[in-house]
Amino acid sequence: MDCLRIQGGRPLKGEVPISGAKNAALPAMAACLLTEAPLQLNNVPDLADIRAFLLLLETLGVTYQKGPDVRQLTLSAASLRQVLAPYNLVRKMRASILVLGPLLARHGRAKVSLPGGCAIGVRPIDLHLKGLETLGASISLEDGYICAEAPKGLVGGTITFPIVTVTGTENLLMAATLAQGTTTLINAALEPEIANLAQCLNAMGAHITGLGTPTLTIECVPALKSASHTILPDRIEAGTYALAAIATRGTLTLRAPQLASLLPSALSVFTQIGAEITVEERSLTIAAPSTFSSCDITTEPFPGYPTDLQAQAMAVLSLAEGASLIRETIWENRFLHVAELVRMGAHISVQGLTAVVRGVPALQGAPVMATDLRASSSLVIAGLAARGETTINRLYHLDRGYEAVEEKLTACGACVERVPAS
Ligand code: EPZ
Repeated sequence: MDCLRIQGGRPLKGEVPISGAKNAALPAMAACLLTEAPLQLNNVPDLADIRAFLLLLETLGVTYQKGPDVRQLTLSAASLRQVLAPYNLVRKMRASILVLGPLLARHGRAKVSLPGGCAIGVRPIDLHLKGLETLGASISLEDGYICAEAPKGLVGGTITFPIVTVTGTENLLMAATLAQGTTTLINAALEPEIANLAQCLNAMGAHITGLGTPTLTIECVPALKSASHTILPDRIEAGTYALAAIATRGTLTLRAPQLASLLPSALSVFTQIGAEITVEERSLTIAAPSTFSSCDITTEPFPGYPTDLQAQAMAVLSLAEGASLIRETIWENRFLHVAELVRMGAHISVQGLTAVVRGVPALQGAPVMATDLRASSSLVIAGLAARGETTINRLYHLDRGYEAVEEKLTACGACVERVPAS
């Protein structure tokens, strides 16, 4: 198992190319299961989670080709071998549940392992299952597997989500494209990855309206066809580098289109901390202030502040003047990074779902352990800002969601290296 060794205290300066979004690429890859025609995806990031999802698709019988561009992936589900998503693959990545809706819609049945919980929370999928039942599926749970059937096909209906669910909306959106009649999704998630998936499905011939709103209407089409679709930039990767620029008192230009519209609340938080932001059509530049102002953050569904940038902001606010309150409202156990930041000298106390972060003048490098994907990027930010050496263990968490992280950081002046764990 590798770890990341960081010599902290160097301001990040330069440009960072922002990759395609992991959380948009995964549902778009699942969409290939809806048709026998090939689906070409552009701007797909090279990440452990993408490779794990490809392995799952391959197990189902999907074939794929990479290139000619390195970020192009063409998937073909012309003939599937099985509609069973096995436990050993699903347990490694919860997003595997995204194959359930498309398999059921096109093949009338699916058997997908229940994903189980993960470090950040219990992560139920009851709303995915209730939604599919509304579309006429019969669902039973057998030996840890979801067995879903709709032998005569799914039938459109109205699904009102009681709370916002991102992959729940995506699963139902995909399932509804082939469901007879009209389906309406009410209180659909507004995350930009949803509209990106809907664009992909529409390019494949689906009939979805209401993109970017909480009400999505899907009219049935008999079959989907071949398409080419581009994955939108990764707003969480961009936000992570922006916070790294602030923490190290540097200046970074993040290269990707649309970043300001993808990060509305995060940019307002960065400004409150004191950063200067310059938005251009295909880039965003963030310059750190000399001292950081404290700031209160509540994580919320889009367009609110993303839970996936909570841990990274905490690393920055641990260096701010005064106290900040961070409330996590999406996941019940997403403060696992706190104990590690405290090992680096941060002053943070947690009460329930609220963390009180009292700024300290400096962090000290230390050996720390990554517990989940975003916790690991928070520790990278803390390590880059800290005095001395930080070693982050369990680096595989970081590799799930950040492409070429050492290369991107080194190009901006960071001193980081991947080393085998001792
Ligand atoms: C997506 O997870 C993301 N994953 C997560 O990113 C992200 O943290 C999360 O959305 C919130 O933005 C992908 O897109 C692959 P939810 P998802 O269903 O869809 C409750 C990262 O770091 N809920 O929107 O699994 C649930 O418990 C990852 O990249 C139910 O109660 O999240 C949570 O409290 C981590 N029943 C809330 O809804 C359900 O059936 C939101 O979860 C579904 C969800």
